[in-house]
Amino acid sequence: MSRSFLEIKVLEALLNSQDWVSGEELADQLSLSRVAVWKEMEKLKSRGFPVASSRKGYRLLELPDVFSREYLEAYFSRLPFPMNFFYRDQVDSTNEWAKKEALQGAPSWSLFVAENQTRGKGRRGRSWFSLPGKSLTVSLLIRPALSLGPGLTSLPLVCGLAVSLALEEEGLKSGIKWPNDVLIGGKKLAGILVEGDFEAEILKYVVIGIGLNVNLSEGDFPQGLRLTATSLLEASGKKHHRLFLLEGLLNKLYRCLEKWEEEAGLASLYSELKKKLVTLGKRVKVVTPGETLEGVAENVDLDGSLWIDLGGKKRKVNWGELVNP
Ligand code: BTN
Repeated sequence: MSRSFLEIKVLEALLNSQDWVSGEELADQLSLSRVAVWKEMEKLKSRGFPVASSRKGYRLLELPDVFSREYLEAYFSRLPFPMNFFYRDQVDSTNEWAKKEALQGAPSWSLFVAENQTRGKGRRGRSWFSLPGKSLTVSLLIRPALSLGPGLTSLPLVCGLAVSLALEEEGLKSGIKWPNDVLIGGKKLAGILVEGDFEAEILKYVVIGIGLNVNLSEGDFPQGLRLTATSLLEASGKKHHRLFLLEGLLNKLYRCLEKWEEEAGLASLYSELKKKLVTLGKRVKVVTPGETLEGVAENVDLDGSLWIDLGGKKRKVNWGELVNP
C-alpha cells in the first residue's frame, strides 16, 4: 500500500466515524499491525490533525482548515459524484496548472487547489490577489460535450450562480455582476476566470478558476483593493472553514454545470440567475474585445449575453467586462 493511499484510508476512517475508531478495527481494515496504526496517527498529528487517543481508540477532534491531496481525497470521498484532486502548496496560477494537466489528459472533474499562487491571474490581464491560509484559489477542469455556440457564452454566469448559491448556504446573500463577479454590498468577494481550448469548434476542455476571499480582514488587502474588495469574514463578522466552503461550492457547481451541459445553456437556471443579477436596470460601461459601449443594462438573454440600451438603440453583448461608467 502506498504511503499516500494509506494516509487517505486512515483519514477516511476517522472522518467517516462519528465516534471513536478502535485501533484493532483500523488495523484489520487496513491489514496493518496496531503499532503501524499508531504510527500513522502520530504522523497525522505532526501534520496538524488533532487526533485524540484513548482506550476506545482514535478520534478526530475537529477538521483542520488545511489542504493536502490526501486530505482532499479523503474528505471529498463523501461527494455524490466522482472527482480527481490535485494539490500543491504553491503554484504560479491554478488555471495555468489545470490547463497544462488538461493537455496531458487529466480527466473531466479534476480540481486543482493551491494554498498559494505566485502569479494569480484575473480577467483582462489583471492579477488576482490571495493570501495563503485565508483565501480559496481553485480551478476546475471539465470536458463538456459542447461545441462553440450560444450555450457556451452562458458558462461564466452559471459559474457565478454556483458560487453565489454556495455562499447562500454559508448564510451570505450575494449578487452577481455580469458576467461573473460575485459581490456583497457592492464589493467583490469572488472572481471567476473561465478559459477554454477548442479544436475545429469542438471544445476540448474548460478551466473554471475561482478565487474567493475567505478569511481576509480589510487590512490584509493591498491599499488599492480596500475600497472594492471584501471577504466572507468582513461580510459576516466570522471566520469560515475553507474546506466546508469548498464542499458547498463543488456541490453547487456540479448541480449547475450538469444542468447547463444537459440543456446547452441557462434554460432552467435562468430564473434563479436573474434574481441574483445586480446589473440589470443600471447604467453600465462595457468593454468588449472590439469596442466600449455605454448605456443601461436592460436584460440578460438565455445565452447569457447582456442587452444594453444605448439610448434608443439596443445592443446585445456576448463577451465583455463592466467597468465604472
Ligand atoms: C477576475 O475577477 O478577474 C477573475 C479572478 C480569478 C482568480 C482565480 S484564483 C484561482 C484561479 N487561478 C488563477 O490564476 N486565477 C483564478
